[in-house]
Amino acid sequence: MIPKFSITQRLLEKYPFARFIGVIATNIKNVKESPILEKEKRKLEKYITSNFENYKEDIKNKKVFFEKYKKSFPIEYQLKTISQGKKIPTHSVLKDLFFMTELKNCVIMDVQDLAKLGKNLQFDITKGNEDFIYMDGTKLKTKKDDIVLRKGNQILITHLYGAGKYSLVSEKTKDASFMIWSDVKLTDENVENVKNDLKKYLKLISTKDTKLNFFEVEEEKEKEENFIVTPWEVKGDVDYNKLIRKFGTSRIDSKLLKRIKKHTGDLHYFLKRKIFFSHRDFDKILDHYEKGEEFALYTGRGPSGNTHIGHIIPWLFTKWLQDNFNVDLYFELTDVEKFLVKNMELKDAIHYSYENILDIIAVGFNPKKTFIFLDSEMSATRFKITNQIAKKINFSTAKAVFGFNNETNIGLIFHPAVQAAPCYLPSYLKKKQIPTLIPAAIDQDPYWRVTRDIAGKVGFPKPCQLHCGFMKGFGKGGKMSASDPKSAIYTTDDPKTVRKKIMKYAFSGGRETIEEHRKYGGNPDVDLSYHMLTFLEPDDKKLKKIYGDYKSGKLLSGELKQICVDTINEFLAEHQKRREKAKKTFHKYMLRE
Ligand code: TYM
Repeated sequence: MIPKFSITQRLLEKYPFARFIGVIATNIKNVKESPILEKEKRKLEKYITSNFENYKEDIKNKKVFFEKYKKSFPIEYQLKTISQGKKIPTHSVLKDLFFMTELKNCVIMDVQDLAKLGKNLQFDITKGNEDFIYMDGTKLKTKKDDIVLRKGNQILITHLYGAGKYSLVSEKTKDASFMIWSDVKLTDENVENVKNDLKKYLKLISTKDTKLNFFEVEEEKEKEENFIVTPWEVKGDVDYNKLIRKFGTSRIDSKLLKRIKKHTGDLHYFLKRKIFFSHRDFDKILDHYEKGEEFALYTGRGPSGNTHIGHIIPWLFTKWLQDNFNVDLYFELTDVEKFLVKNMELKDAIHYSYENILDIIAVGFNPKKTFIFLDSEMSATRFKITNQIAKKINFSTAKAVFGFNNETNIGLIFHPAVQAAPCYLPSYLKKKQIPTLIPAAIDQDPYWRVTRDIAGKVGFPKPCQLHCGFMKGFGKGGKMSASDPKSAIYTTDDPKTVRKKIMKYAFSGGRETIEEHRKYGGNPDVDLSYHMLTFLEPDDKKLKKIYGDYKSGKLLSGELKQICVDTINEFLAEHQKRREKAKKTFHKYMLRE
């Protein structure tokens, strides 16, 4: 029986990046010594000795938890002594191979006897002073905020002290559970490496009946998670706090906002309203910029149809960044991706690319500093970078990050490398290290996780990100989507169509009757017209008044919808004029070799 592991909410609140990854190995023999494993140990000792310098950065990051309690990071000492010639000890094969995986990857792990674990186990934090029996039988008291594994009232293991007495493996162990404990951010690549090593070592001691079962421990569910965010699908009621935790990004906090304001004078309303809410290393881009060094912007569009007003959101913000920081912008149209993933001919994706380009130009980017390109017209330079990237991403990482499976066509499997390449294009073209900053909605983040992981291996700086949330569409939850005409307002819609869509489809937070609405007021927080205004009405005071009036019942649903219609139509009237002009100027923006 495989136990059910979970992580408590309070643990994730305290350690938002904590991850626990396990493998259950059944039908193994915990013999004292295995000659093949001994041979592998000698190889590992050599590896550690010659790579010891590379471990140092990792150790620095991972020892923070232990140093807080004035303890040393257990693996640091072991790595050091091995690099100085000490041998990896021999206890029993299960203990040895978990220790080897720990050392190789510089991660904390445990191994336990599955038969002693029980049905339900919980990763939790301790309030301190709880009883814990250490593996040698010593009675200890836990320290506040240590991470612990609980089986009912019993604490089996603590992060700080290590394994307890109750679930140790012995010579009788037939089935074992191995677990990686990380209190800091682990990349998907790190996880893949640990898994592969564990698999490799376990295979050496397996019998023909041995089975391995890998899993990642999930957060204890308060309620069923009812949303999905991937590059190809956004569904349900997105919980952005959970996404920050799940994707391992950082919140844009007041300190960062202050820093941005120092350079821009004022803050864009997308920042003030937390529409752009998360980032990866934007602070590093600012460090770079403050030293007088160059960075570039990169964003894109997958031309699956006409542009809708949701797509424009990251582009409006990108223009603001371009104006304020006076930087180049690289803009990719992933027409081939849309051909591969949708039921769509390439010629149609190309047609939509050029339609979408008119919208991109209409946003008002600087023609001297903006470079737009289609994937189907890929340059030799980009092809070169793409292949350099593709060589460094293995299929198991791609599967883990993008959810590819045996039915996925291989064109799409290659696409992450295609979309990653522009991250490095400015450096390649200008022959110096120019980091890119990618403003986009958070659905695109999986690409950047992979691109960041391999940046060092291909010799380019890690791309940084600014993430926004989604403008919702007329469907329930999720986002406005270009491939569902009923869910979206397109940039080419005329005023009548906009009016019809809002009046007919926009979910209202109003009451059933006017009398009730006047008496109890409406709910702007669930009202789609109000939601759209938060994206499109720049005037904070005006928006605040609309919120208050609707909540108090002064403003009726029909009136709120009308305000929304007028705001969108005003925006589109200007946009459409610029879009028309772009038909004559678009070639100035195209990047072709
Ligand atoms: P695509 O065409 O799905 O989306 C284009 C951009 O719009 C964002 N977005 C939204 N933002 C707010 N509200 C919405 N309802 C909404 N829907 C989409 C997306 O996050 C994206 O920023 N494969 C990509 C194209 C691409 C790309 C890039 C995007 C290539 N390189 C670099 C961003 C950055 C795609 O299909 O995007």
